[in-house]
Amino acid sequence: MTSAYEIIDHKYDVVILGAGGAGLRATLGMASAGLKTACITKVFPTRSHTVAAQGGIGAALGNMAEDHWEWHMYDTVKGADWLGDQDAIEYMCREAVSSVVELEHMGVPFSRNTEGKIYQRPFGGHMRNFGEAPVQRACAAADRTGHAILHTLYQQCLKHKAEFYVEYVAIDLIMGDDGTCEGIVAWNLDDGSIHVFRGHQVVIASGGYGRSYFSCTSAHTCTGDGNAMVARAGLPLQDHEFVQFHPTGIYGSGCLITEGARGEGGYLTNSEGERFMERYAPTAKDLASRDVVSRAMTIEILEGRGVGPNKDHIHLHLEHLGAETLHERLPGISESAQIFAGVDCTKEPIPVLPTVHYNMGGIPTNYKTEALNPTKANPDATSPGLMAIGECASASVHGANRLGTNSLLDIVVFGRSAGIRARELIVPNTPLRPYREGCADKALDRFDRLRFAKGSTPTAEIRLSMQHAMQNHAAVFRTDALMKEGCEKIDTIWNGLSDISVKDNSLIWNSDLIESLELENLMVCAKTTIYSAAARHESRGAHAHEDHPDRDDVNWMKHTLSWIDEKGNVTVDYRPVHNYTLTDEIEYIEPKARVY
Ligand code: FUM
Repeated sequence: MTSAYEIIDHKYDVVILGAGGAGLRATLGMASAGLKTACITKVFPTRSHTVAAQGGIGAALGNMAEDHWEWHMYDTVKGADWLGDQDAIEYMCREAVSSVVELEHMGVPFSRNTEGKIYQRPFGGHMRNFGEAPVQRACAAADRTGHAILHTLYQQCLKHKAEFYVEYVAIDLIMGDDGTCEGIVAWNLDDGSIHVFRGHQVVIASGGYGRSYFSCTSAHTCTGDGNAMVARAGLPLQDHEFVQFHPTGIYGSGCLITEGARGEGGYLTNSEGERFMERYAPTAKDLASRDVVSRAMTIEILEGRGVGPNKDHIHLHLEHLGAETLHERLPGISESAQIFAGVDCTKEPIPVLPTVHYNMGGIPTNYKTEALNPTKANPDATSPGLMAIGECASASVHGANRLGTNSLLDIVVFGRSAGIRARELIVPNTPLRPYREGCADKALDRFDRLRFAKGSTPTAEIRLSMQHAMQNHAAVFRTDALMKEGCEKIDTIWNGLSDISVKDNSLIWNSDLIESLELENLMVCAKTTIYSAAARHESRGAHAHEDHPDRDDVNWMKHTLSWIDEKGNVTVDYRPVHNYTLTDEIEYIEPKARVY
């Protein structure tokens, strides 16, 4: 079908989708290097979900006590349960110190220690000397670190005259016949116009897909748009089964209470008042890795030691820290506890529950942020014209479980890396391929199918069914039977998309249409997640499989690749985990039992 829309064509060197920390750091690097750069975002940049990151950014600055990037690397590899690619992890941990110092010089208002240096707090899984005892590595701006970073990066982008297209919803990628990504088709919510953004490179920085679950810490905008666009382009997604549950979402609302609260000395108790983490993680206790703490909390609840009238949550204690410390170090979560749980955390414990927080998997990339299109002959083959960074990407530095504070680190290190790679790949102002008539048709067919959808089921109803299915069938503990039933439920919900009802076909701020586009994206992510989970017959990191309770390095130390076709059929295959580091300066860290 030929499009009925008048298309506005834009030519850039680079087109970036998303203005969270990753998108902004990449935009800054590219614009400041003289590349003509467009950043497209569905929300105003400083409303992106990075703004909600609280506790800190990981870097072995050693401001509070001795620390080394090699210890950080070891903790990240161990946290990832040996599913991370150690070349990418080495890159991230090495670059961490200079990336944070760079942020400081850009103006991020970090908290300070008594010497005036960047304040660092303990965090889960951050240990000194290869696992010996907790270390203070999380560089913090009180409990609003993401907010501070996001605002600073946006100001820097404005200084370098980066061009923003705000409140533009991306519909799909434009792929050439040779598989090269040529651009993005987007809809301007303000005036209803349709745009094609073309560039030598398209960088996806669209964040995670937490909203495919019922209870999550993610913003309502975290709908896996980039992951789904890549999947619809026929490319695979990687390791989608690894979904992180943060131990301390506020019971009921899911709102995040930073791990930094436990870093500052907070602790968890069950209905018997017991500090149960001492039983599960004798060394790190409440500061064990997130998957370990979330499982321990879930076991306590399942075994009848949850708190509250229904014994279905856990208590987080901060009362003993005192009002002054809470005010100075944790002002944001003190306010959240009051608003979302009605609790004055200087006096009473906060009710908390493991809550979906982060997607370890995503669009597969190398450490240079080039997207991959793996083949059996070349599992590291790149996909021309396409890059991915941040939570939507899988470099893979987080493997099967991400270490707290490595998400903010990931976005600044790989945002910067994307800028470096783009500068290597693109000569500024070189001509793009000629505009191809009809290049936006496929995307606009999808847009129109939803714009004029006259079914009988409201978008919100389908979304709720999906969120419940994911919450019930792909959560902290999984079994073969549970996941099989979950796959069946998600298939039925997918089929229900053909009966979707979109209330009107307006092109101006049609929020029902936006949510329907987002729902289709979430469904792609939900399906690939639960099918990938059902196929992995071992337990590793965030994937705790009760029928296969052990990690199986012989058969399963491999990345899952999942493809999905237009009918929703999912195909799963695998590619090897990199068993090498980036440089000879550090040896590959051999797998071993993961104890905290
Ligand atoms: O707990 C937190 O502050 C979250 C940090 C993170 O996910 O890295």
